[in-house]
Amino acid sequence: MATKKKAKAKSKVAAKKSARKVVKLAAKKLAAGNGLPRPSSKPWGQAGRALEGVKILDFTHVQSGPTCTQLLAYMGADVIKVERPGIGDITRGQLRDVKGADSLYFTMLNGSKRSITIDSKHAKGKEILDRLVRECDVLVENFAPGALDRMGLTFEHIHKLNPRMVVASVKGFGPGPYEDCKVYENVAQCAGGSASTTGFRDGPPLVTGAQIGDSGTGLHLALGIVSALYQRIRTGRGQKVLCAMQDGVLNLARVKLRDQQRLAHGPLTEYSQHGEGIPFGKATPRAGNDSGGGQPGWILKCKGWENDPDAYIYFITQAPVWGAICDLIGKPEWKTDADYATPPARLPRLRHIFDTIEQWTMTMTKFEVMETCNNLDIPVGPILSMKEIAEEQSLRATGTVVEVDHPTRGKYLTVGNPIKLSDSPADVRRSPLLGEHTDEILRKVLGYSEKELAEIKASGAITAPEKPAKAEAA
Ligand code: COA
Repeated sequence: MATKKKAKAKSKVAAKKSARKVVKLAAKKLAAGNGLPRPSSKPWGQAGRALEGVKILDFTHVQSGPTCTQLLAYMGADVIKVERPGIGDITRGQLRDVKGADSLYFTMLNGSKRSITIDSKHAKGKEILDRLVRECDVLVENFAPGALDRMGLTFEHIHKLNPRMVVASVKGFGPGPYEDCKVYENVAQCAGGSASTTGFRDGPPLVTGAQIGDSGTGLHLALGIVSALYQRIRTGRGQKVLCAMQDGVLNLARVKLRDQQRLAHGPLTEYSQHGEGIPFGKATPRAGNDSGGGQPGWILKCKGWENDPDAYIYFITQAPVWGAICDLIGKPEWKTDADYATPPARLPRLRHIFDTIEQWTMTMTKFEVMETCNNLDIPVGPILSMKEIAEEQSLRATGTVVEVDHPTRGKYLTVGNPIKLSDSPADVRRSPLLGEHTDEILRKVLGYSEKELAEIKASGAITAPEKPAKAEAA
């Protein structure tokens, strides 16, 4: 018995000792910076950009991929966009507003990048691409399924040349019955569950103007790439990153999958359909302008709505400020009326409540409503037109809307980096002309000699064929 006690005490002491050792080691590691360099003493914003030194081989086109690589370029990565000689990204010629100039579709999605033209199906072109693969950290593409492999750039080939390379792809669908399908924005919005839950109950499914399929998936991909680069610091190897547009849309529409599951346990009481006595079907319905959360809201008319399609405000009847709302709209009695005083009591009456609030919002402009309500902490949002956004000075001041100058189209507005890093100022520059940096990249990034350069030029791998196919002009 005594020996047992002794042994227990001994092991307790040993455990304490080992815990102290772990703490000491952790403190030592922390003091040594956890393997990180010493904190920079340079002023904020002058220690380089977040992704400085990262080279991206950008094989993207149209919108989803370019959104991703533009964001990485804003963060400081060197983005080398590979385009087909004489044609380039199809969007250069789509929805053209200025004759002969790259379209806004292209310029607003390809800022801060460099452009090199390479025929990826030409033997010499393949040679150049292999060199780029060796040189770059990330390859990003959003071709139709199989197109990259058909160019000879299989994951196996890429990894043989450069095992550290991250290979990132946007596809319409993940593995499964639709994986071989080509997909554009609205296809993804429909397949990802957004369209069936957008619009009004008595109307057809609706797509949204926000490009959640393309730009939304591009954003997802950017996070995947940065994570893979971070993991590479430990493992030393790259990996595949795949974002399917259907998955990206579903991720953004997850509250509607939440509602789908809630339906099994009864009606969705915060949907105005419930207050109107209309039974729910088997799937999450379209909810018009109902709020997607627990605080009911709706879009209400403001002064001038008869002539201005955007004279509206989104009004949220947030519970903590219900009393202030009642006073504001001239219904102080609702504060104590059992039919209106509590959130559950209000749910079946939302239509009537919003109609009453609208009588008040219609007496003021949306900006007056905004000011009045914000002073009382009532959350509201004016419906801003794109014209108003383009002219909004505060968005210019933060660099969210940026004006850049372009050699063939002149000045244009673009959306800068919506993600603000305090030590990495965004690098927002105009989009490149087709092949503008071909020479520069071949010489300075890939180190080709003058003789080799002349050979490449003569081979036809970086120039348009005799009769260049025309880019589709819209
Ligand atoms: N040199 C030579 N050929 C090139 C080239 C280059 N530099 N760049 C591209 N090409 C070729 C490709 O190899 C491919 O040829 P292949 O089909 O003979 O192998 C061809 O150009 C076109 O590629 P593809 O991606 O099929 O373009 P598309 O215009 O037919 O389809 C999409 C466009 C967007 C529908 C399709 O790319 C797609 O589904 N992408 C994935 C999902 C996506 O991102 N969709 C949203 C786009 S915003």
